[in-house]
Amino acid sequence: MSTFTYLITGASRGLGLGYSKALLASDPRIRVVAAARNPSAASDLQALANEEANKGRIHLLQLDVEDKDKVAQAVKELEASGFVENGIDALVLNAGVAAESKYKPSEIEPEHVLANLGVNLFGVLNVTKAFLPLVRQGKGKQIFTVSSVCGSVEEFGKNTVATGYCISKSAVTMWTAKLAAELGPEGFTVIPFHPGYVSTGINGHSGTLTVEEAAAEALKNVFQAAKPELNGSFLRYSGGTVPW
Ligand SMILES: NC(=O)c1ccc[n+]([C@@H]2O[C@H](COP(=O)([O-])OP(=O)(O)OC[C@H]3O[C@@H](n4cnc5c(N)ncnc54)[C@H](OP(=O)(O)O)[C@@H]3O)[C@@H](O)[C@H]2O)c1
Repeated sequence: MSTFTYLITGASRGLGLGYSKALLASDPRIRVVAAARNPSAASDLQALANEEANKGRIHLLQLDVEDKDKVAQAVKELEASGFVENGIDALVLNAGVAAESKYKPSEIEPEHVLANLGVNLFGVLNVTKAFLPLVRQGKGKQIFTVSSVCGSVEEFGKNTVATGYCISKSAVTMWTAKLAAELGPEGFTVIPFHPGYVSTGINGHSGTLTVEEAAAEALKNVFQAAKPELNGSFLRYSGGTVPW
């Protein structure tokens, strides 16, 4: 295999940082565009970029996924950097928020749902649309959406927790399935997946898995397992699929 370049959004901390670390450590041919809202303030990401083994293999990119103009600007900056002259092999749409989680389904207001959709759905659309030409140039042709079991009607439709967040994850899972239908005929592998219940900022560090554990599982069962036959499957970090 020649080099294989991932672009990971929300790489400043949590799972995005964990995926960046695990992928770089897994194979010297892997390269990562680590996209973050404010890379200069992301000290753990800076430390990863400064590791001797990662020199020339990681590129930090400033990227706020919600702002369409800034996303377009980031594409230009990345192209100008020369880091992706062979395109991007895999896009990992990871940046996410969980906002306004306390409202019951009967009480939630549109703005509470929008507070989740802005990053979790619209941010994903912005990034995909803007970076797709570069992913088309790459040979990997993989797109991963970090969704959640929270978006599974079968698994989370039976409780009242985090309604706005769950709606945003159902929406982005549906969108990812549709993208898979669109891009599958071009040889793409497009996969929404559940990353596990992981101790990160999004859940106030209540998750039961460490970032390292979850990243190791996702590496094995999602990133390394990806192949065109799995296009459009809703995968689980630990193997198998999540019901829609
Ligand atoms: N942890 C879990 O148990 C769990 C379970 C299911 C799904 N997920 C999903 O996993 C993904 C990663 O979450 P996490 O657990 O790693 O949470 P986290 O530690 O809170 O990290 C969230 C990441 O998203 C970034 N982000 C937020 N808004 C952004 C924006 N507008 N533009 C660019 N980046 C933005 C944050 O950047 P800043 O540092 O700049 O804020 C941060 O890097 C999310 O999509 C989440 O929904 C997590």
